[in-house]
Amino acid sequence: MAGDWNFSVKGKRVLITGGLGGIGSALAEGFVRHGAEVIVTGRARERTPPVGCRYEAVNLAEDEDVEKLAGRTGRIDTLIHCAGQIEREREMLPDAFNSVLDVHLTGALRLANAYRSGLAARGGSIINIASMFSYYGAPHIPAYAAAKAGVVSLTKSLALSFAEEGIRVNAIAPGWIRTPMTDRGRSDPEIRMKVLTRLPKGSDWADPDELCGTAVFLASSASRMITGVTIPVDGGYTAA
Ligand SMILES: NC(=O)c1ccc[n+]([C@@H]2O[C@H](COP(=O)([O-])OP(=O)(O)OC[C@H]3O[C@@H](n4cnc5c(N)ncnc54)[C@H](O)[C@@H]3O)[C@@H](O)[C@H]2O)c1
Repeated sequence: MAGDWNFSVKGKRVLITGGLGGIGSALAEGFVRHGAEVIVTGRARERTPPVGCRYEAVNLAEDEDVEKLAGRTGRIDTLIHCAGQIEREREMLPDAFNSVLDVHLTGALRLANAYRSGLAARGGSIINIASMFSYYGAPHIPAYAAAKAGVVSLTKSLALSFAEEGIRVNAIAPGWIRTPMTDRGRSDPEIRMKVLTRLPKGSDWADPDELCGTAVFLASSASRMITGVTIPVDGGYTAA
């Protein structure tokens, strides 16, 4: 019905993988502020979970671990796959290449399969986290870039596969965000300058909280016509 959409995620059950990391914890705090019930996952309890969130340990590279996680958490409305890793300097090696793909890309598939019926029962949606490297080459982290390009493609395929069950599948491609994962890039003057030169004047590395608005929108019924897309939240980086 015209006009019955809204932007609220109040009362929604949201699971965020990598929820102890820089972006994951900011998303968790954002969803809690908007009244959602949030479960964060981490591979190890590397830091205290954001206030108001339930914590679950999981290794996303293990099928069984992910299936057990889905059993423990039960049905959810929104699945945000935000866990990720970089194996700088090692990603040309096939074992490191595979292990990076396993978390970002195969992990996204594992989670989607494990939560499929629960999401269908609640008319839920999935938000994957892509990257600027979904679009650009990365000479030092080729596995990361391949995985993130794969996330864009998998998001489209899952959107088509799951549409009949009423599950929407989208992704967010963050630009340059201040988190532990990018500490090294930010402190390297050459990389820092490369990024700043491409960004429109007035843009800079962003705080992880800047991703919350788009994530809340994609989780809400206001975006009910949107599925299969990846939205860059990049301060204009991909416009150049
Ligand atoms: N920081 C950025 O500028 C940026 C830009 C684009 C995309 N991203 C993406 O955003 C997501 C979050 O990045 P971040 O910067 O917050 O990184 P982060 O390193 O702060 O957090 C990543 C989290 O993933 C978890 N993780 C890694 N391997 C795992 C596994 N096998 N099982 C379970 N959990 C695992 C880690 O424990 C960590 O908490 C990642 O997918 C990353 O690729 C980050």
